[in-house]
Amino acid sequence: MDDTDIYAAIGEEGFARLIAAFYKQIPADDILGPMYPRDDLAGAEARLRDFLVGRFGGPMRYIEQRGHPRLRMRHAPFPVTPAARDRWMAMMNRALDDTALPPEPTALLREFFDQVATMMINQEA
Ligand code: HEM
Repeated sequence: MDDTDIYAAIGEEGFARLIAAFYKQIPADDILGPMYPRDDLAGAEARLRDFLVGRFGGPMRYIEQRGHPRLRMRHAPFPVTPAARDRWMAMMNRALDDTALPPEPTALLREFFDQVATMMINQEA
């Protein structure tokens, strides 16, 4: 299975369940909670979901609405320390466990998140 087969395998619904499981954990988190827009968590959820849908073989809604992802640039306003990165990954790993998608897409997504999350680190502490 390639990255771009994942949308066909898990569908809109798979991404929606995964990203909902991730965002559900955000408000109560001491590191990540304060970074996300409290009055637009649903918008933030849609942005990450649509980005992933497009990246993994589905409709390109994210690029149509937001343009080129430029993820490092878009994260520049937020203090992404190694601790924030590890917390983000812990939440995403929990969301992947809870969502229980099939093993192959789960492994590919886990690997992708792990690499991109490390790339987002923009300050040491
Ligand atoms: C490493 C820890 C990370 C932290 C602390 C973090 C934090 C944030 C925050 C606070 C936002 C703004 C929420 C909003 O959209 O209003 C955001 C947006 C976003 N993040 Fe992250 N993020 C992290 C990792 C990642 C990773 C690994 C990905 C991709 C797999 C990602 C993809 C996105 C996308 C697509 C957006 C929306 C950008 C936009 O269009 O404005 N982030 N992130």
